[in-house]
Amino acid sequence: MKFALILALLLPTLSFSQQTAWFADAKLGIFIHWGMYAADGTSESWAFHNKTVPYAQYMSQMNRFTAENYNPAAWAQLIKESGAKYCVITTKHHDGLSLYNTQLKTPQAPKQKNWNPKYPLSTTYQTPAKRDLITPLFAELEKAGLKKGAYYSLLDWTSNDYPGFYKDSSRYQIKDEPQRWASFLAFMHGQIAEINTQLQPDLFWFDGDWEHSETEWQAAKIDSIIHHTNPNAILNGRLKSYGDYDTPEQNMPVLHPDRNTWELCLTTNDNWGYRPQDHHFKSHFELLSIFTECLGMGGNLLLDIGPKADGSIPSEQIAILKEFGRWTQKHSAAIYGTIAGLPYGHYHGNSTLSKDSTVLNLFVPSPQGVNPDKLNLMIPIYIKGLKSLPKSITLLGSTTQIESHEVGKISWSSVPGTLFLEIPISAMDPMISVVQIQFKEPIQLYRGKGGFH
Ligand code: GLC
Repeated sequence: MKFALILALLLPTLSFSQQTAWFADAKLGIFIHWGMYAADGTSESWAFHNKTVPYAQYMSQMNRFTAENYNPAAWAQLIKESGAKYCVITTKHHDGLSLYNTQLKTPQAPKQKNWNPKYPLSTTYQTPAKRDLITPLFAELEKAGLKKGAYYSLLDWTSNDYPGFYKDSSRYQIKDEPQRWASFLAFMHGQIAEINTQLQPDLFWFDGDWEHSETEWQAAKIDSIIHHTNPNAILNGRLKSYGDYDTPEQNMPVLHPDRNTWELCLTTNDNWGYRPQDHHFKSHFELLSIFTECLGMGGNLLLDIGPKADGSIPSEQIAILKEFGRWTQKHSAAIYGTIAGLPYGHYHGNSTLSKDSTVLNLFVPSPQGVNPDKLNLMIPIYIKGLKSLPKSITLLGSTTQIESHEVGKISWSSVPGTLFLEIPISAMDPMISVVQIQFKEPIQLYRGKGGFH
């Protein structure tokens, strides 16, 4: 059976249009959670919703959200250097504070005095930052050749027209006050239209859809507001049935997500936003391993950073992005524009294929904690069921020869043997190496149950 046919059986069919194909090829994006929560280092929005911080105290963080050291050009450069091809930033999180210039006013609950209700609830009017923080970043991203993504929370726990507030209480039920819900929808749809025209995102990253149904959100209307003027915009899969791709969060899928195109969003420590007490960072090796898992299943990684209230990026996250940059640059041929690698059973690890299936990239994790110069050891790997003959086998970023031999091939049977390879540790990347195998023709695989046919 032709490999392409096997792939087609194993994976849902490609449905992404030409205009949005950039997303499937991009592989790495950087997520930015920036908001008032960075000031005191509370959890983003959830801190008041879950009653860990009183609402008034949470909202007072706006007074300390200065953005005084914010350098959008430096952010865009760092993101580009990481090897990411797109960036998604919070234009508004569940707490209702817009980081872009909204003209729409958020209704404040009677008796509450958490912001000046004469003006929109935005960084321009309600924080010492006093400006739209998104437009300059989008301009820099565009200059750097990166795609621009707008995260937007459909739910808004601060608006007095929105039903939800605390985890255990609501302001009202939609069925009892349909007019109030209609005002909220007008406000929320209006903000989406503003973002669409002011910022012209390449991608909308919705969140918070779980609190209402597709009909209640009027998801079809949201889709048409966006696509009417911005036909190529991609929508993530958090607008109920609308959306172009799946967004598993934090946990690596074991089975392929439902939609063919997907993106894992992942924190570098345990929080989306900046929290100084959270030192629980994933190691560079762990993060790159998770990235190769995404690549191997044909998905993207959206790796999150949480800048501080002054606009500086925590040093651990800068180091992570730089390490991603080192690694992605060295191994770019195995990353961008590739498709999912070998189906389960052929190789005990992650792999990618070129779109024409003539190049196979095997990711080989390096032993950690050894000094490679002092060791003359080999890492053995093998591939089963490879019918095509390799034309060349190289280690990306190295000139070292990779020895290979086929084991168990029976001369009169069409069933292939097992290809064993040995990778010298001294030539390996300190994190994860890529063994690249080129074939004369699209790779052919044996998918049988063993024996002679
Ligand atoms: C969750 C959280 C939110 C976070 C998002 C990122 O939906 O509600 O705080 O922004 O995940 O994926």
